[in-house]
Order: sequence, then structure tokens, then C-alpha cells
Amino acid sequence: MFALHLYFLNPIFLQSVENPASQQADRINRLFNYFNIAAGCMLLLVIFLVVYICIKFKQKKGDTNDPVQTSGNKKLEALMIGGPTLLLAFFFYQTIATMKSVAPGVPKGRQPDIIITGHQWWWEVDYPAAHVVAANEVHLPIGKQLLMEMRSADVIHDWWVPQLGNKMDLVPGRSNYLWLNIHNPGTYIGACSEFCGAQHAWMRINVIAQNEDDFNKWLTANAKDAVQPADELAVKGAELIQSKSCGSCHRIVGTTATSNVGPDLTHLASRQTLLTGLMENNETNLYKWISHPQEVKPGAHMPDFNLDKDSVNAIVHYLEELK
Ligand code: CUA
Repeated sequence: MFALHLYFLNPIFLQSVENPASQQADRINRLFNYFNIAAGCMLLLVIFLVVYICIKFKQKKGDTNDPVQTSGNKKLEALMIGGPTLLLAFFFYQTIATMKSVAPGVPKGRQPDIIITGHQWWWEVDYPAAHVVAANEVHLPIGKQLLMEMRSADVIHDWWVPQLGNKMDLVPGRSNYLWLNIHNPGTYIGACSEFCGAQHAWMRINVIAQNEDDFNKWLTANAKDAVQPADELAVKGAELIQSKSCGSCHRIVGTTATSNVGPDLTHLASRQTLLTGLMENNETNLYKWISHPQEVKPGAHMPDFNLDKDSVNAIVHYLEELK
């Protein structure tokens, strides 16, 4: 009992389809529960009939006659055909209605609010109207019907945040669309749900849902260029990023680094986690990562540059300033 209690208090349990947090998840959860109730009733009925029939029609001592043979009970047949037909019709209707509500299609000319691009092994998050590009932590406003365009830069990935509703594949060469209307502020955890290579397991999703004010504040802060390095060590770090060609994979807006092969670093220091949820975003972890990327996240596309301690220190110091 105690263990069960702990289980239900576990935050992992709360990140469940049974704890829906968006309009879309509510609809899917309702349908799921209809199925659960119907299947549960069916199970109880079958258990009851098996037990009842076993007791009632048990062969009596000394009775060697065959049971009474009957066939063609019209009422029973009508019930056994009609019952499941009605049940199927109900679920067919409910399924279509849920699909229509969760994925109503995209009206002509409607631009996406957010573009999510799956990469091996991180998420690019694009807010086209505000010209903001972020990575891995997906900030979203609550109470709005958001249209999310899903793309892939390499292989098939799959977006799934259980509390926020349906999954959506990110397929190279095409766009899929997902509607999302989140009820309350909070952090919602998900993960890539389609095997996509060595670090598939470390392709977590962190959705940070905020009320409109907080979200707009975040968006305004992230629309700014990267801050200028504040001291000598940071200047050295910024120079190293340029000379070691970090910019051929990363972008730091306002500098010569402009690529999106790897995550945008313009406001790296404002994120809570590093490497798609692999570890907390702090100086020690950043140091570990830049010193030996392949030890921290084997298979990741960031090569080991064999930097000396001072260089790593300078780069980390600069990146720590990018709030
Ligand atoms: Cu991306 Cu699995």
C-alpha cells in the first residue's frame, strides 16, 4: 500500500495520459476512458457468466444424461449481434468526433505559430512571427489554440508529451501539423518516441507552458542578440568559438556563428537543462560536455576538439554569460 502511495505521488506518474493538461489531451482521454469502461464491463460480464454457468449447470451426481439441447434462440442471437453492433457504432462515432476535434486540419493561409524541427538528437524550436529560434526547451503560451508545424532535419522523430495529447511524427521532406491548447502553466515532460539513432533515449522534450505575460517576456528576451562578452576571459571564449569554427554548426545571433546544424546558443545560459534534458545546465556540466562530448553523449554529432583546459574554461565562461 505504501509503495502504491509513493507511485501515485511520483512525478513520472503525473506525466501521464491519465493526467491530461490540454484541450486535445482532454478529448483523447475521454475516448480512452470510454474504451476502458466498456472493456471493464465486458470483462466483469464474462467473469460473472463463467462463474454463474459453472455453478448452475454443474453435472449432478448420478445424472448421466446429456444436457438439454437447444438451438436457434432468436432473442439471444438478436442480443449478441445487436449489442456489439451498437457498441461498435458508438465507438466509431466517438473516434471520428475525437479525431475531428484534435486534428481539424489547417485552414488555408494559416501560418504556424511554432515550427519544431527534430534533429539527431535535439529539438529546434522556431517562433517565425517573432524571429526567435530556441532549442530543446519549448516555451508555449497557455490558453491559445497553437498550430505547430513539425519537420525533421535528418531521420524520422516522433513528438510525444503524454499530458498534452497526441503524438506526431516528424518526417524528413514534409510537414505535419499539431494543434495544441494548454490549460495551465507548468513544465510538461515528453520524449522522442520513434527510434532515431544512438541517442534516441536522450531526446527529451521539455514544454514550459507560461501565461501570456511570462511568455511574452521570455519571447522578448530571446529575440535580442547575444550579449557582448563582458570581461577578458569571455572575450577569449568568444574568439575561440570563432577560431575553432563552432559557428559552422551553431548560431549565436549577433556574431559570425549562424548555422543551425547544432542547437542555437544565443541564450544558452537561460535554459535549465543541457543536451536535451541529459543534465542540469551549469558550469561543471558545460565544462564536461565541451571537454569530452563523446564521453558525455556518445554518438552526438559534436566532435571532440581536444581543447586545453584554459580554452574550455574561456568558452564555458563566455557561454555562461549568454542569458
Ligand atoms: Cu528522435 Cu528518437
